[in-house]
Amino acid sequence: MKRSFVQALLNSDELDRKVLVKGWVRHFRSNRFLILNDGSGQHGLQCVIDNEAFSADLLKQINVGAAVSIEGKLVASAGKGQKVEVLVEDLEILGGANPEEYPLQPKKHSLEFLREIAHLRPRTNTFGAIMRVRHHLAFAVHEFFHKNGFYYINTPIVTGSDAEGAGEMFQVTTLPLDNVPKTESGEVDFKKDFFAKQTNLTVSGQLEAELAALGLGQVYTFGPTFRAENSNTSRHLAEFWMIEPEVAFNEISENMDLAEDFIKYVVKYVLENCQEDLAFLEARQKDEEKGKPEKDRSPMALIEKLNFVLGESYERVTYTEAIDILKNSKPNKKKKFKYLIEEWGADLQSEHERYLVEKHFGKPVILYDYPAKIKAFYMRVNDDGKTVRAMDILFPGIGEMVGGSQREERYEVLKEKIKEFNIPEEELWWYLETRKFGTVPHSGFGLGFERLVMFVTGMSNIRDVIPFPRTPQNAEF
Ligand code: 4AD
Ligand code: MG
Repeated sequence: MKRSFVQALLNSDELDRKVLVKGWVRHFRSNRFLILNDGSGQHGLQCVIDNEAFSADLLKQINVGAAVSIEGKLVASAGKGQKVEVLVEDLEILGGANPEEYPLQPKKHSLEFLREIAHLRPRTNTFGAIMRVRHHLAFAVHEFFHKNGFYYINTPIVTGSDAEGAGEMFQVTTLPLDNVPKTESGEVDFKKDFFAKQTNLTVSGQLEAELAALGLGQVYTFGPTFRAENSNTSRHLAEFWMIEPEVAFNEISENMDLAEDFIKYVVKYVLENCQEDLAFLEARQKDEEKGKPEKDRSPMALIEKLNFVLGESYERVTYTEAIDILKNSKPNKKKKFKYLIEEWGADLQSEHERYLVEKHFGKPVILYDYPAKIKAFYMRVNDDGKTVRAMDILFPGIGEMVGGSQREERYEVLKEKIKEFNIPEEELWWYLETRKFGTVPHSGFGLGFERLVMFVTGMSNIRDVIPFPRTPQNAEF
């Protein structure tokens, strides 16, 4: 017999038929009611065991966490709480789980504890819900771009350049660390390395996405990116996934429109396709916030919040306007910010971003036209000479979700910027050449996928929205 998925049986109207299901025991009570979950959805399937028909030895092995195969009849449930159940005719233990050792019992475990057993947490309701929502979000990302005429481009993971110029890169080398070859002048001889040059894991696929866009028109990357920044925050990973569209002929305001349409599309997709998981996550968040003081609680329930950002157009504010707002804000005047805003040019910290989004505007904000000094070399310089066409999208509870810009397409200006930023020109000769031959205005952005998953699931730590987080001091599993 072909195996049925639990989710399909729970929604089935075809009753009084024989079915085969396989999964893990989530709960077993009164030696009679077994709740089976196979990952296909949030809810488990109740399987009723006539305990006189099975040996005591077999019943003893039905422990939480054990894998079982069940054949039986799908019937309307007599009890309340479920529409259907399975009357078990045949039960086989596929893999036992010793209750003395199995760490996941049917009770509430802390997220911190679950991180320590990340190899088992996909079996919990919370992580099942998060991972299913994550999957649907990823699917919606591809669907959005495909429908809008974008091509999916796979940019390299090993690169020789530092796209963001932040120097937070993991090196890639096959040189022996205990006996590194040196040049005559005593420097590391990267000519002897695998690629005959210094290489690292990419921090962004943008530069290569630009090359592709300047031929294919509209492209996007969606891949892993790596940053060796030593920041142990609830919003940073050393390995995270980034979505980076790049569009030829788009200027900054069209870039903003694209980002806004894109985020709304994927949020709407999840609202329509992940209702049960979102309902579970909403209840989970409410429960978790019960013990917190009012000010630390989310102002809206999860699903209400997601609908809210669909309905609002994001506030578009220049950096200069934002600095004025922040300078005159209460927390700045009362010295409540850790970093006080004193003058134009200051880099915004997450406390400032959150103030703008959560307190001042009460909705997502697109900040643009930042000082050139605090942004990357490739951003298009405005006519004022001191700001660039950068745009960051800030979200409530998250801070920066998107970073993007219009790109500098003028050869001479870009060449000068590369010099100013002390980037060796020979590292980027290919990037510069695209400005020499058929250059056009173009724009793009990067959206941190895990930050999006955090927003949509209401989880407050980024380590809980990626299956196996990589953070400083931590690469287990
Ligand atoms: O602002 P960032 O650094 O922009 C870029 O990398 C550009 N090259 C993107 C582009 O224009 N194509 O990063 C983009 C986004 C951030 O807004 C944030 O959401 C996410 O990536 N991000 C991180 N997410 C998790 N952990 C980290 N350490 C992150 N660093 C950035
Ligand atoms: Mg950024």
